[in-house]
Amino acid sequence: MSSRPEIQAPPEIFYNDDEARKYTSSSRIIEIQAKLSERALELLALPEDGVPRLLLDIGCGSGLSGETLTESGHQWVGLDISQSMLDVAVEREVEGDLILGDMGQGLALRPGVVDGAISISAVQWLCNADKSSHDPRKRLKAFFESLYRSLSRGARAVLQVYPENVAQRELILSFAMRAGFAGGIVVDYPHSSKSRKEYLVLTCGPPSLSSATPQGIGEDADCSNDESSEDEENQAVCVSDRHRPRKKQKLNKKTKGRQWVLKKKEQMRKKGNAVPPDSRYTARKRKDHF
Ligand SMILES: C[S@@+](CC[C@H](N)C(=O)[O-])C[C@H]1O[C@@H](n2cnc3c(N)ncnc32)[C@H](O)[C@@H]1O
Repeated sequence: MSSRPEIQAPPEIFYNDDEARKYTSSSRIIEIQAKLSERALELLALPEDGVPRLLLDIGCGSGLSGETLTESGHQWVGLDISQSMLDVAVEREVEGDLILGDMGQGLALRPGVVDGAISISAVQWLCNADKSSHDPRKRLKAFFESLYRSLSRGARAVLQVYPENVAQRELILSFAMRAGFAGGIVVDYPHSSKSRKEYLVLTCGPPSLSSATPQGIGEDADCSNDESSEDEENQAVCVSDRHRPRKKQKLNKKTKGRQWVLKKKEQMRKKGNAVPPDSRYTARKRKDHF
């Protein structure tokens, strides 16, 4: 049987009382989720002005990811579909406000209320159809559109995901772009099959300098997804950037030739205009950086 929990059962069934407790008491999981959350928070790039922000933790589970937000001085609201996970969060007295809900049905939050959103190991669940009424495309659409609405303009959402394959990654990213987000995917440790991690870094609002996908450590590394190397010293972050499709540029527009330019210059001279003399540089194609 596949080790991917997404294949085994719907999230509200998979994360039952037993699994929620097991998940939250595993020191390995605690450590991994904390690292992922710290990285997500870093990619969120909130202003370093000491002002606490209101953040959203999507698929907050028992509050492991939320704890990182609390430790960084922020307030947060967590949403999760599993009552058992939220029960453990309540027992652990996490600081965030908790909402029981399904992100695939959209986030019922007021427009523009959150200053940033993170999601750790949760969004790939939307790619599975757990009920006959589930259409992953519709659920991704509802999720990203509502996420876009709930963020303040210019705010970021950083979603760490475990897509099962390239098609899932593309599906998730394409629905984010359609909802209006700019951004792309940051891949940490691209050469390590064990440590490789992917983050969708999305910005709400029109593409701008601040919406460019962050460059990270080792950005000049080869991102050819060679999984043969397990060398974690070779930390690298690869970035695949994407914005909403731009309008098609007219690439085939022919430039006017030398003969045309010479003729025009001659006409100008006849009209009595001061025109530079013809030379071998006349009408020569300029280098791109001009
Ligand atoms: C691997 S756990 C991660 C929990 C938490 N973010 C952490 O870092 O510990 C994934 C969580 O996503 C939640 N989840 C999956 N699908 C969901 C959905 N459609 N709506 C809300 N939460 C969902 C699961 O219930 C589970 O708690």
